[in-house]
Amino acid sequence: MNWDKRYPSIPDMEAAAAKRMPRFVHDYLVGGLGLEGAVSRNQAALQDVLLLPRYLSDARDVQLETTILGKTYAAPFGIAPLGLAGLLWPNAERILATAAQAHNVPYMLSTYGNISLEALKTETNVDAWFQFYPPEPADLETDLLQRAQNAGYNTLILTVDIPVATRRERDIRNGITVPPTFNLNTLWQMVTHPGWALRMLRMGIPEFETLKPYYPPGPSVTTSVKFIAEKMEGHITPQRFKRIRDQWPGTIVVKGILNPQDAQDYLALGADGLIVSNHGGRQFDAAPAAPTVLPMIRKAVGDDVLLMADGGVRSGLDIARLLALGADFVLIGRPFIYALAAMDKHGGNQVLWLLQQELQQALAQLGCDSVAKLPAFLFEPHD
Ligand SMILES: Cc1cc2nc3c(=O)[nH]c(=O)nc-3n(C[C@H](O)[C@H](O)[C@H](O)COP(=O)(O)O)c2cc1C
Repeated sequence: MNWDKRYPSIPDMEAAAAKRMPRFVHDYLVGGLGLEGAVSRNQAALQDVLLLPRYLSDARDVQLETTILGKTYAAPFGIAPLGLAGLLWPNAERILATAAQAHNVPYMLSTYGNISLEALKTETNVDAWFQFYPPEPADLETDLLQRAQNAGYNTLILTVDIPVATRRERDIRNGITVPPTFNLNTLWQMVTHPGWALRMLRMGIPEFETLKPYYPPGPSVTTSVKFIAEKMEGHITPQRFKRIRDQWPGTIVVKGILNPQDAQDYLALGADGLIVSNHGGRQFDAAPAAPTVLPMIRKAVGDDVLLMADGGVRSGLDIARLLALGADFVLIGRPFIYALAAMDKHGGNQVLWLLQQELQQALAQLGCDSVAKLPAFLFEPHD
């Protein structure tokens, strides 16, 4: 199959995903909350970032390799943590982690993943970072951190932008609530999407595999969702941050930064890096997009701090835009699921290949021979 001809861009994959996923699953993937302004702003803000080519410079040999956290990756981007990835597309985590390993980019496993943190490591041997939502009480938190360390994770992504549970109207409408309230309509959506449904039958109902050992016996969808609602404490106070810092010998990257003051405060508390993100526009509809706040945050923390960014990236050019604004590394979420829905097991490799091609081409067109030099190509008409 000539996948490039069939899906020459991520929006082509996105259109296929809308047809191939049951509606309640697709809604959970693409949705935000309220009027979904933050979701659309993420892409719109990237479109507004312009880059100025220099045609006299020769950049035929473009350097995408990027070293962060002591490791050299093939390109300056990675696969963002996605909770319930195995519900979005059956076996998503194994397919994506295997592709990430083949392309030498990092894979970020959500606490709400459908493969356990141990199984991901033993089955795929990928360079994975563990995204951490700390549970209460403290002994559960300690146990989970210890497991991540024993399994060989070095980088912990601490997501701080879920201080409260949000009302995502699409999910409420579809019955993705505590407890879940699925109905005949949900069943109908599954039956009419046999590609998804048959693969799901083969894989079994996805569970929160990393958290499963902590549920009461006899887990069911209702028990696991109730566990999450009761035990996952989203608000990270400074005391809580310090407690986690004291227990984690590796690197901590804080995800969900929008405010330059927060950025400075988390660094002062011991963070090793920050991810500028509004959680794909899923948490707060008045949240600014990364391109809007990234320059302020870069200025506040200085040049040496590891800054990553995400939200709305739909091409290699979008990656270049975030790097030009001051990010060292970029995370991408939804496009990986679009790619799986479009191409199943081929999707991970194809989308990683495409993003690299597009990024390489953007740099060559700009006359920029290395990703580190991108900030010099930002078009700032007011200067
Ligand atoms: C379906 C879905 C589930 C997500 N789950 C998590 C999660 O478990 N932990 C987390 O830190 N971020 C989570 N995020 C946010 C992503 O890591 C990332 O910040 C966001 O998707 C980036 O925007 P993009 O999808 O437009 O690329 C999730 C996003 C989506 C779309």
